[in-house]
Amino acid sequence: MLRHELLGHLHRLLEPRSYLEIGVSDGRSLTLSRTQTVAIDPAFKVTSEVQCDLHLVRATSDEFFARTNPLAHFRRPVVDLAFIDGMHLSEYTLRDFMNVERYTTPASVIVFDDMLPRTVDEAARDRITKMWTGDVYKVMQALQKHRPDLLAFNVDTQPTGTSVVLVPDATAPGLTEKYDDLVEEMVVDDPQDVPTEVLERKHAVDPEKLVASPAWERLAQLRNRLRPTNASQVRSLFRATGLTELVGG
Ligand SMILES: C[S@@+](CC[C@H](N)C(=O)[O-])C[C@H]1O[C@@H](n2cnc3c(N)ncnc32)[C@H](O)[C@@H]1O
Repeated sequence: MLRHELLGHLHRLLEPRSYLEIGVSDGRSLTLSRTQTVAIDPAFKVTSEVQCDLHLVRATSDEFFARTNPLAHFRRPVVDLAFIDGMHLSEYTLRDFMNVERYTTPASVIVFDDMLPRTVDEAARDRITKMWTGDVYKVMQALQKHRPDLLAFNVDTQPTGTSVVLVPDATAPGLTEKYDDLVEEMVVDDPQDVPTEVLERKHAVDPEKLVASPAWERLAQLRNRLRPTNASQVRSLFRATGLTELVGG
């Protein structure tokens, strides 16, 4: 399954009330949205028809999140579905995650693009290939190590792999304290020492099985209830529907 197909399935299954996209380029992923949307890119050049209620921001994601009330376009400052596909360097993508997480509920879903490079060249920090993942795969390693509360997993999409984070916590302090140490670990000269398990996609979830899970529609129902959703309800839902087992959580 192509990575945009996975994103399209998640839009359809989750029917998010709000969608945040970091990294727009020509707008191909943006065309999948049918909901209130904020999309950020300092150099967007949208060439396709877009069919959503859109605030298109010409700024870097850091500039955007430094604004007062950046998500004023949404009815509530909450992101139901996010797609992180901006600057493909691990320190930027980690910051994007930290900033997005502040605007989530436990029922929000965060998707990262280009998280499973196919070659060491594709993962270089200094771009040398046409398709480029950069070293953003390191963000998933950092989340799996330092945020065991998250359900964070890779998905075997084509051509590059995708990652999904579930049960985010807008109040979690953990990564802010560790950010400088993580950047020191992650930012190293090329060539990157990409782990074999990343290149071989060990433990990456089959996207067909992922989208066939009944968890997504149940998650949308839970999210849409008026009472605020809590993390233990979401985790129970994922266990009951078999999603936790499928993603190796
Ligand atoms: C891979 S493209 C996005 C593709 C698009 N999401 C899609 O799938 O159709 C990455 C985009 O990130 C943008 N970008 C680079 N640095 C950024 C930053 N700091 N904040 C937000 N976007 C950034 C680039 O201008 C580029 O258009």
